[in-house]
Amino acid sequence: MSATTAGTPYGTIPPASPLPQRRPVSLPRLAQMRAAGEKITMLTAYDATFAAVADSAGVECILVGDSLGMVCQGLHSTVGVSLQDMVYHTASVTRGLHRAQATAWVIADMPYGSYAESPEQALRNACQLMQAGAHMVKLEGGGWTAPTVRFLVDRGVPVCAHLGLTPQTVHALGGYRVQGKDAQAAATLRQHALELQDAGAAMLVLEMVPAALSAQLTAELPDCHTIGIGAGNGTAGQVLVLHDMLGVNLGKMAKFVHNFMADAGSVKGAMEAYVKAVKDGSFPDNALHAW
Ligand code: KIV
Repeated sequence: MSATTAGTPYGTIPPASPLPQRRPVSLPRLAQMRAAGEKITMLTAYDATFAAVADSAGVECILVGDSLGMVCQGLHSTVGVSLQDMVYHTASVTRGLHRAQATAWVIADMPYGSYAESPEQALRNACQLMQAGAHMVKLEGGGWTAPTVRFLVDRGVPVCAHLGLTPQTVHALGGYRVQGKDAQAAATLRQHALELQDAGAAMLVLEMVPAALSAQLTAELPDCHTIGIGAGNGTAGQVLVLHDMLGVNLGKMAKFVHNFMADAGSVKGAMEAYVKAVKDGSFPDNALHAW
C-alpha cells in the first residue's frame, strides 16, 4: 500500500484527481471565468478535511474566514480572533489542500486589530498568513484601508477587500444589519469600492448589501471581482459560511442562507449542489435573499 493510500486511523485526504492534474485557480483564471460569465464559487473552511472536500466538489476559492471565531471557537463575534488563530487554521487548510493535490485559491482573513495601525503592521501580519499558505489576504473596511491595500499589493500580497456589513466592526455598526440602504450610504459604499479597486484590490466581498447596489458595483468594478453574501445574485461570485450552508448553525439562520445539506446525501453532495446553484444562477434567489 502506498503512503498516500495507507492513511491514518482518523480519516484520510486522498488526492482529488489522478494525473493529469487540474489547473490551479489563479487570479488570471478567475478573470477568465468572469469574462466568460461564469460565476466564482467560494466557501469558508477552517481545517484540512473540509477544505479538501470543498475543492473536490468544485469550489474555486476557500476563505479561511475569521467567522471561525463563532463556528469553531464559540465566540460571539470575530473580534476575539487572533493572528495566531488565523495562521493555525490557514496552515491546516493549505496542508489539507496540498495533500489532496487540490487547486483552490486560498484567502485568509486578517483578524481584528492586525492591519489598522499602519500599512507596515498590515504587511508584517499578512506575510505570516501568506507563509502559512494563503494566496490572498482579506481585510475589512472602507476608504481608510485603501492606502494599506495599495501598500500590500505593491509588495506582492494580493488583497480581497470587504464592504457592507463588516463583522469586525459590529459594535460600531450597532448589530448585524444591512448596509448601503439609503442613497447617502449607497454613495459612500460605492466611493469606497472604487477607491479599493484603484488601490489594487482584486476581489471584494459585499456582505448584506442591497441586490441592486451590488449589481451596479459589479458592473463598475471590472478589475475587482465582487463576491456576495446576502447581496443578491448580481455579483461575480458568491460565498457562504460552511456551517451555515451545511445547516449546522445552532442559532437563527440568516435570511440569505440556504441549507444545501437538507437535500444532499453527503457534505460533498451539498457542496456540489451549492456550486451548481451558484453557477446556474439559481442561488441566491433575489426574490428570497435580497434586500
Ligand atoms: O469570516 C468570514 O467567514 C467572512 C465571510 C462571511 C465572507 O468574512
